[in-house]
Amino acid sequence: MAKIGVIGAGYVGIATAICFSYLGNDVVCADIVEEKIDKLNRGEMPILEEGMGELLSQGLAKGSLKFVMGAANAARQREFVFLCVPTPSTDTGTVDMSYIQKAAQEIAPVLEPGSIVVTKSTVPVGSTVFVQQFLARDDISVVSNPEFLKEGSALHDTLHPDRIVIGSSDTSAAMRIKELYKDIYAPVLITDSASAEVIKYASNAFLAAKISFANAVANLCEAVDADVKDVLLAMGYDRRIGFDFLRPGPGWGGSCFPKDTKALVCIGAEAGYEFALLKGIIAANREQLERVIEKINLALGGEMEGKTVALLGLTFKANTDDLRESPAIAVAEQLLLRNVVVQAYDPTVEDRSSMLSAGIQICSSAYEASKDAHLLVIMTEWGEFYKLDYNKVKELMMYPCIVDTRNLLDPDAVKRLGFSYVGMGRK
Ligand code: UDX
Repeated sequence: MAKIGVIGAGYVGIATAICFSYLGNDVVCADIVEEKIDKLNRGEMPILEEGMGELLSQGLAKGSLKFVMGAANAARQREFVFLCVPTPSTDTGTVDMSYIQKAAQEIAPVLEPGSIVVTKSTVPVGSTVFVQQFLARDDISVVSNPEFLKEGSALHDTLHPDRIVIGSSDTSAAMRIKELYKDIYAPVLITDSASAEVIKYASNAFLAAKISFANAVANLCEAVDADVKDVLLAMGYDRRIGFDFLRPGPGWGGSCFPKDTKALVCIGAEAGYEFALLKGIIAANREQLERVIEKINLALGGEMEGKTVALLGLTFKANTDDLRESPAIAVAEQLLLRNVVVQAYDPTVEDRSSMLSAGIQICSSAYEASKDAHLLVIMTEWGEFYKLDYNKVKELMMYPCIVDTRNLLDPDAVKRLGFSYVGMGRK
């Protein structure tokens, strides 16, 4: 049983803390938001993550997991301290390292001699070395161990990762981190810290590129009257391509891809490499959002002003309650700028006041959102939108018209019900 400290109770920190406790370690996790700490200590999850709540309760009951205020309190008498604090984008796209710096400086005076500090947050190349400098302790090793979890499947991804990456110039520290993962069945790659840091960014940038490629193929299919569903299915059977992350949509969003792609462009530029390909991918993602707005405009007959749109889904993807960098919010904002009434529904969004102040009317069901709408726009692929009674939706709407940015519905089925249907790259 190892003594582990985790700094930061966000998606990565909570998953790291809960999973290491589940694997039989003694874990203390810190945050700076008291309300979040209290909630977690009561066994309540502050984020929506399947299966995580039960493991949280188990850990608290066993006494092997607790949540505390302040980084130093999670670093005392610990053999390993994982930094899982945010690394947001600055206005110029570079990474704001202030949370990492603050955490490192707070824990430095209380770290046990010989303990290991692990960077799990996505940090720019060279950060592991910076952390070592912030700590200013030559009896502490710093190791990079990037996290690859997807929101909504954090528990599964943490316990069943595709690979474990450990980056350090200190071989014995790297071996001690490897030992922590001994009960997880996955290939372990030990490398230097700069390579580990690049692996994380390059993986996210590649996935973003794959999605953007699928979006571009969907756009091409529209132009040449082909069906993207068949095209991508056939492409996916090629094992070198694969089916994953090949679903067209309104563009990728969330807390990672937008931030990490921008950061990688900056990391390259600072080091003298112009990552033109990645710049193109970022631009293509912006254009994808514009295409969605144009589809909505056309579906509304080229006149948006004063129309009502039912927007289904606000989170950046299904099975999460995260609204960060959500294409749905970006579309809602664009519609509001054009004086469209936005009636939105999302299974995880209940707080009406914050959305209302932005001008979005939050409804308590997809049916309520559909009432008197001139157009229904599916923005997030929530399963419940697939199962709606579309006869009822049609009766509630002013005009039976759907823009489906996730290709969630069967076009023929909804057309049979009398809807006009616009998907992404569908015939
Ligand atoms: C991502 C990475 O997958 C994960 O490895 C990394 O650690 C953090 O960033 P996450 O942000 O949770 O995880 O979301 P993900 O499921 O990867 O989706 C990212 C975006 O791409 C979403 O907006 C999603 O809707 C979109 N997407 C994904 C598509 O449009 N099409 C796809 O085929 C897949």
